[in-house]
Amino acid sequence: MRPLLRLEGVEAGYGAARVLNGVSFDVSAGEVVALMGRNGMGKTTLVRSILGLAPWVRGRLLFEGRELRGQATHRIARAGIGLVPEGRQVFSNLTVRENLTATALVRGRMEGAWTVDRVITMLPQLGNRLGAMGNTLSGGEQQMLAIGRALMTNPTLLILDEATEGLSPVLRQEIWDCLATLQRQGQAILLIDKHVAAMRRLADRIVILEKGRVAWRGVGEGLTDDVLQRTLTV
Ligand SMILES: Nc1ncnc2c1ncn2[C@@H]1O[C@H](COP(=O)(O)OP(=O)(O)OP(=O)(O)O)[C@@H](O)[C@H]1O
Ligand SMILES: [Mg+2]
Repeated sequence: MRPLLRLEGVEAGYGAARVLNGVSFDVSAGEVVALMGRNGMGKTTLVRSILGLAPWVRGRLLFEGRELRGQATHRIARAGIGLVPEGRQVFSNLTVRENLTATALVRGRMEGAWTVDRVITMLPQLGNRLGAMGNTLSGGEQQMLAIGRALMTNPTLLILDEATEGLSPVLRQEIWDCLATLQRQGQAILLIDKHVAAMRRLADRIVILEKGRVAWRGVGEGLTDDVLQRTLTV
């Protein structure tokens, strides 16, 4: 089966500073792949490379067989990649409803496309905040909104960059539950997060970056204390 996303020897960086040193891995349709690694190892840079937001990129980044490199970010989004960015970045001067609909996308005649109502069923906290401005939301509400907004683009691949950062354990669990539901519905997800136990439970496969290279890849059960010590423990 052809992978949904295929990264082959991806290099990227900022000016003269190279951050990614040849990263290769795939995400298949319906699969949840967790991308892990200590601070500064290049996870967000990899996300930026996929979305056409890195200053420079080399290597191959294929989405449904087509090269993403060189394409504008809005075209990449339209092709079916939805991003929940690091730091959420909800529109502060728009309401929750406007945030959800402003960047919504439906491609072709899509079965079961996301609607505001379906987002609220998945993320009920947003339901009684639909008229609230983005800048009045709590951190947890902003995070839910960032997820809802990405879903409204009907992504074939959903990418979340540290979606649980700074949230309470209860809110984190709500996001894990939401992602597990999406997974059961067949949503492909590239998930960046530092919570090892949750990643082990959720992810079909785990990829760990270290200094811009893949240091380890495998399934959750393979993530032994030794591997954790070597690749994730600060
Ligand atoms: N805009 C930028 N300009 C220059 N260097 C940058 C820029 N953004 C990130 N870097 C550097 O690139 C390296 C990788 O950063 P990146 O944000 O990709 O790491 P990360 O794995 O996402 O880390 P974290 O877990 O802290 O989010 C770091 O050394 C960082 O300092
Ligand atoms: Mg990051």
